[in-house]
Amino acid sequence: MNSKGVTLWFTGLSGSGKTTIAKEVERKLKAWGCKVERLDGDIVRTNLSKGLGFSKEDRDTNIRRIGFVAKLLSRNGVVAITAAISPYRAIRDEIRQMTENFVEVYVKAPLEVCESRDVKGLYARARAGEIKNFTGIDDPYEEPLNAEVVCDTNTESIEESADKVLEVLASLGYIQVQEVPNHTI
Ligand code: ADX
Repeated sequence: MNSKGVTLWFTGLSGSGKTTIAKEVERKLKAWGCKVERLDGDIVRTNLSKGLGFSKEDRDTNIRRIGFVAKLLSRNGVVAITAAISPYRAIRDEIRQMTENFVEVYVKAPLEVCESRDVKGLYARARAGEIKNFTGIDDPYEEPLNAEVVCDTNTESIEESADKVLEVLASLGYIQVQEVPNHTI
């Protein structure tokens, strides 16, 4: 399997499924022998962005750091997968502008669905007023207008969403699948 460096930028609400799909895409790419690094929001916030909070300023700093590292990786042939909420369109577009190979994946799920999943119990805490500035509750999420891929996790399986991402990577020439994707994935 041949692959070119690319920044594969997942964005979406907390609980939308970014990490789950990103991990599945990563798993398949690695099985094909591609060089992959995943910069997940929660992981980045425990090291690269340790100490940053959730004000607009801190989120922008977080996203610029992730974008910077992803750019370095992707220009050296790595598939750099990022999965942070990245709620602000202007910063995502700023990263797009500075990155040669940029593919945006909007992981779309209605707020009610993300909230009912409440994987980490944070929506309940945000509703109770224990966490302020929670994305989707009392902080904005600006949807992408021109994402290369939209994964609707309310109607698609993880497998379908991951395959959609891989098919777009193939159609844009970032990965070369030897056989028909459905037969090799
Ligand atoms: S981003 O806005 O800077 O892109 P990031 O993806 O790194 O956010 O972190 C989001 C994760 O932090 C959420 O999935 C959630 O677990 C946690 N979190 C804690 N406080 C907040 C908050 N106020 N808004 C959103 N997520 C929060």
